[in-house]
Amino acid sequence: MGSGIAEVLARSALDVLVVERDQEALDAGRQRVLTSLAKARATGKISEDDSRRALDRLSFSIDIGDLRDYPFIIEAVAEDHAVKLDVFRRLDEVLVDGGAIMASNTSSIPIAALAAATSRPENVIGLHFFNPVPVMKLVEITPSLLTSDETLATARRLAGERLAKTPITSPDRAGFVVNALLIPYLLSAIRMFEAGVATAEDIDTGMTLGCAHPMGPLALTDLIGLDTTAAVAESLYAEFRESHFATPPLLSRMIAAGQLGRKSGQGFYSYRR
Ligand SMILES: NC(=O)c1ccc[n+]([C@@H]2O[C@H](COP(=O)([O-])OP(=O)(O)OC[C@H]3O[C@@H](n4cnc5c(N)ncnc54)[C@H](O)[C@@H]3O)[C@@H](O)[C@H]2O)c1
Repeated sequence: MGSGIAEVLARSALDVLVVERDQEALDAGRQRVLTSLAKARATGKISEDDSRRALDRLSFSIDIGDLRDYPFIIEAVAEDHAVKLDVFRRLDEVLVDGGAIMASNTSSIPIAALAAATSRPENVIGLHFFNPVPVMKLVEITPSLLTSDETLATARRLAGERLAKTPITSPDRAGFVVNALLIPYLLSAIRMFEAGVATAEDIDTGMTLGCAHPMGPLALTDLIGLDTTAAVAESLYAEFRESHFATPPLLSRMIAAGQLGRKSGQGFYSYRR
């Protein structure tokens, strides 16, 4: 998600600094941006010149301190409470401008909890992009109880005007609007597959051809990442204690086996060449 967000920002003529936790992850992220831009060029969605200009606007670092002068930060680290809280604490320490906005791409973690990890909760907001970021038009914007009107207005302008996305305002509840609806559907498909009711292909074909979804639920879970899907489900379950948010055993076992979907080469489908 981080590489997709960085690409979209750079394609919108913004200077972007991408910070990763180590060099290997940084190189992988840079490669994802290059591959995505090459694909956009090959399909005529972007010209050679625009692609080069976007690349020129991107810089990369493994030092969070390099973000100190940036006015708008979008956090997109793994969907893990402790990891995100640590990143927000460290961002709060390094950012020089008292008005700098700290946004999170979290799918389910309360924005108020992230805000409380900082000394400027009024500047913290949810900015939830969708996968793949260059293609998907929606951005969910989630102010917490502590977010200022000014932060909300700036985030809406960035998403709606500068990035030409369609923003919706979502409540600061686990899963916001989209994942509160989507995750029970994905988990139901996994339970159906786990129970042997139908093959993965038939479940997905049922929903693509029967309901005009662009992708079936199991292929979509592979795209999102099984670990990310389970992490979002756990946040929803922790908040609402409703059984339709409970992680099916098969999902947990596949994650334990390293089958994370497209990013690992194996999920409900195989992506190895
Ligand atoms: N996968 C999706 O379809 C999707 C869609 C919308 C939002 N999201 C949200 O986006 C966020 C990222 O999801 P993802 O699927 O890209 O996860 P991912 O596990 O694929 O990537 C997480 C990235 O964060 C990096 N990272 C981890 N700790 C870090 C740290 N301390 N500092 C810097 N970088 C660090 C990792 O190196 C990795 O590149 C999550 O909050 C997730 O809920 C995901």
